[in-house]
Amino acid sequence: MKRMSKKVKRLFGGFKPKHYELSLIPDRDAMTFTGNVTIAGYKTHRPNKRITLHQVGLTITGAALTKHDKKGDQTFMASRINNHDAFDEVRLHTEQMLYPGEYTIKLTFKGKITRPMDGLYPCVFQHKGKEQVIMATQFESHFARQVFPCIDEPEAKATFSLTLTTPANETVLANTPVKSQKKHGRNIVTTFETTPIMSTYLLAFIFGELKYKEARTKTGITVRAYATPDNVEHTDFALDIAVKCLEFYSNYFGISYPLPKCDLVALPDFAAGAMENWGCITFREQALLVDPNHTSLAAKQQVALVVAHELTHQWFGNLVTMRWWTDLWLNEGFASWMEYLAINHLFPEWQMWVQFIVDEQHQALKLDALEHTHPVEVSVNHPDEIRTIFDAISYSKGASVIHMLHDYLGAKAFKDGLHHYLNKHAYSNTDTVDLWDAMETISKKPVKNFMHAWTSQPGFPLLTATVHQNKIEISQERFIANSKHRQTSEIIVWPVPLLAATNVPNDTLIHNHGDFEMHYPDKLKLNQGQSGFYRVLYDNDHLDKLGRMVVAGTLLPLDRLGLLDDLLESAKAGKVTAVKVLDFLENFHSEDNYAVWDVIATLIGALRLLADEEPLREAMKPFIRDLTAKQVKRLGWDHKKSESHFDRLLRPIVLGLAASADEPSLVEKCQNLFLQMSGADNIANIDPDLRGVLYGTVARLGDRPEFNKLLALHNASTNSEERITLTAALTSFKQPVLHERALRLINSKNVRLQDVSYWLAYSFMNRHAKKQTWRWMKAHWAWLRKNLGNDLSFCRMPVYAARVFSDDSFLKEYKKFFGTIMEPALERSFKQGVEIIELQSAWKARDHDAIKQYFAHYNSAKN
Ligand code: BES
Ligand code: ZN
Repeated sequence: MKRMSKKVKRLFGGFKPKHYELSLIPDRDAMTFTGNVTIAGYKTHRPNKRITLHQVGLTITGAALTKHDKKGDQTFMASRINNHDAFDEVRLHTEQMLYPGEYTIKLTFKGKITRPMDGLYPCVFQHKGKEQVIMATQFESHFARQVFPCIDEPEAKATFSLTLTTPANETVLANTPVKSQKKHGRNIVTTFETTPIMSTYLLAFIFGELKYKEARTKTGITVRAYATPDNVEHTDFALDIAVKCLEFYSNYFGISYPLPKCDLVALPDFAAGAMENWGCITFREQALLVDPNHTSLAAKQQVALVVAHELTHQWFGNLVTMRWWTDLWLNEGFASWMEYLAINHLFPEWQMWVQFIVDEQHQALKLDALEHTHPVEVSVNHPDEIRTIFDAISYSKGASVIHMLHDYLGAKAFKDGLHHYLNKHAYSNTDTVDLWDAMETISKKPVKNFMHAWTSQPGFPLLTATVHQNKIEISQERFIANSKHRQTSEIIVWPVPLLAATNVPNDTLIHNHGDFEMHYPDKLKLNQGQSGFYRVLYDNDHLDKLGRMVVAGTLLPLDRLGLLDDLLESAKAGKVTAVKVLDFLENFHSEDNYAVWDVIATLIGALRLLADEEPLREAMKPFIRDLTAKQVKRLGWDHKKSESHFDRLLRPIVLGLAASADEPSLVEKCQNLFLQMSGADNIANIDPDLRGVLYGTVARLGDRPEFNKLLALHNASTNSEERITLTAALTSFKQPVLHERALRLINSKNVRLQDVSYWLAYSFMNRHAKKQTWRWMKAHWAWLRKNLGNDLSFCRMPVYAARVFSDDSFLKEYKKFFGTIMEPALERSFKQGVEIIELQSAWKARDHDAIKQYFAHYNSAKN
C-alpha cells in the first residue's frame, strides 16, 4: 500500500514537455512491460541539479539528459535516479548544474501489469471456450505515470508518437491511425501517427482479439466500433449514434473533428462507464452494446447518452482542457449537459430535457443539500482526492448550472459563446472564468456575476413563497438537509431566476428577499420548467391550489415533478411533515407520465427507509397498490408496438412498484414466467425491460431453488446488463443463508471487479441483509482496497453503507470502522455518510409515528 504526502506538488512548473517519443513492449504472459521514452521539453525556473517527472511503480533503468542551445548539444548521464514514491515522482539528479532551456530526456524503464483497472491492465473474456486477454489502458485521472515517466498533469499538453510491440495476429489501437508497421518474429511493431497537442490522461492504447464494424461521417471521418468477436454484432446502434453525434457537434461547435478516425471500444473489464481518450474511446460493454434480445430500453437510451457524452469531450475536454482538477466540472458538467442536447436533437420524442431534471438535477440537489458537499469549483490538495470529485456535483450540478445559464442566455448566444470559447482556447487549457468571459463577450450579459455564485459556493437556495391577495413575498436561505447543521452554517445568497412566467420577466433575479406584485398569484408556480437550481416551498393555501392544478391537469409534467420532489426533500429536511407529502401525493392518482413516476418511485423508496419494521411495510402495500392500479391496468405486462417511449420506460417502474406491494396478478405472472424458464435460452422470450421486475419479485418471495436458478442464469450470461439485473435479484432474498452465499460470490471468480460495487450497493439496499453486508465489507476491506483502491466506486463505499441506515446506534459503529481505515480518497464520502445517517435518523424520529398512523387510517377507511 502506498503512502502519500498531504499536498499535490505540481511538476509542470519545473519542466514543460513538448513531445514524447514513447515505445513500449508489453509481455502479456509475464504481466510486465519494458519501454523507453524520449521527452523533448523546456526546463524553467532557477538552475538546479535535477529534473523531476511523475512515475508510479516503474523501475527506471537508465536516464540521459541532453541540453540544446547555441553552443550545441550537451549530454549528461543521470548520476542518481531516485523514485520518490510518496510523491509519485522520479527525480533525475545530475552532477552538473542544469540551467533553464531546451532539453531532451531519454529514459529506459520497466514495470508490472496488475489486475486493477487503471494504467495498463488486462481484460479477460471467453472466446470459443478459451480464455482470452485484451490489454487496455485507463489513464484518467493520473495513471499515465504507471506506464511511462511523464509530467502527468492536464496542463502539461504535448504531442505523442507511440510505438507498440504486440502479437502480430491481434488488433492494435491507439489515439491516432497507424503510421507504419513491421513484422518482428511473432510480433508486430506499430508506430502511430503523432497525436494532436493533448494531456497525458487522454492517451490510450489497446491490443487483443477485437472485431469491428465501420461507418463514415459526411466529412469522411472513419468511425469504428470494436468489441470482442461474439459481441461485435451488437455495436450497430452505438456506431450510428456516434456518426450522428460527430456530425452534430462539428456543426454545433463550428469546429471539425480534428482526427481522421474515431474508435469506440467495448472492453470486458472497465472501471468507469466510459472514457473519452482522443480518437480511441473506451466503454464498459453495457455502455456501448445493444442486443435487441437482451438490452432494456433504459439501457439503450443510456448507451446513446454515454456515446454522446464521450464525443462531447472530443471538443470540450480534449481540444480545450481544464488547467487543473479544480475545474474538472468544466469537462464533466458540460459533457453531462451536452449529451442531452445531442440526444434530444436525434430523438426529440425521448423528451430528454424532462429526464434531465430527474436524472441530473435532482441527484445534484440531493448531494448538494449536505453540509459536506463541495463547490462546483473545488480545491484539490491530494492526488487521491481527485477521484472523490467525480461526483454528482461536478457532473450533475455542473450540468444543471449550465442548463440554467442556457436558459438565461438563450440558445443562440449560448452556442455562439461556446464557439468563441473553443476557438480561443483550442489545444490549450482553461479555468472556469474563461468560459464565463467568452459567454459574456458574446452575450453582453453579466454572466460572471450570475454564474460565480453558483459555481464558487457550496449548496443552493430554498425559496419560501407566501402568496397574499395580489402580492407574493419571497425569501431565500441555503437549503440544508441536516437540521443539526442549519444554525451553524454561514449565510450565502444566490441570484435566483424566478421563472414565474406571469408578468415578471423571465430572467428576473432575486438576490436576497423580495416582494413582487403579480396579476395571477392564484396560478403562480415558480421555477417553471424547473431549469433553476433551487427548491421552493409555498404556504399551505397556495400548495393546496397547486395540488388542485395537478388534478385538473393544468401543470406540465416538469412542474408536477418539481413540486413533488421539492416537497419530499423539504420533509427529509424537517421543513414540512412526511404526512403533508403523502397528502400532496393524493393528487397524483391519474398520473401517467414516466418522469413524474420516477419521482414518485423515489418518494416511496424514501418513505420505506422510515419503515423498516415488517408491520409498517405491510401496511404501506395497499396504498402503493391503489396508487399504481390505474397505470398497471393501462400499460399491462406486454408492450405495444405503437406506444410512446415514455410509456415503455414507465412500465418497469409502475409494475415494479406494484409487484413490490404484492399486487397478486403481477406476483403470479412473475412466478409463472420464472417456472417456465428453463435456462439462458428462453430468457430471450421475456421483455428485457421487465426482467428486473420478474427476477426481483421471485427473489424477494423465493428461497433456495430460486436462488440457484438465478445464479445459474448469472453465471451463464455473457451480457453485462443482464448480469447486473440478476445481481439485483441475487442480493434481495430474505434468508440470511442466501445473503451469505451472495456475499461470498463478490470476491469469487464469478464476479468481475468492475461489478463488485453493484453487488455491494444492492446488498446494502436489502433491509434484511444490510447488517450482514456491513460485516462483510469490514472483513474484506483490505481486498476491496487492493483491487478497487483507484476506482471511483471505492470512494463511494462509505455512502453506499450510510444511505440505508436511519438509526443513531449504527453511527457509532460506522465512525469507529472508518476511523481506523481513513485515507484521503474516503474522507469526503465518509463525512457525507455521517451526515446522511444523522439526517435519516432525525427524519425517522420526527415522522415515523405519523406515517404509521397515516397508513393505519388509510387501511381502516378502505375496510
Ligand atoms: N472522463 C470520464 C471517465 C472517467 C471518470 C475516467 C473518472 C476516470 C475517472 C468520462 O467522460 C465519463 O464521465 N464517464 C461516465 C459516463 C458518462 C456518460 C456520465 C462514467 O464513467 O460514469
Ligand atoms: Zn465525462
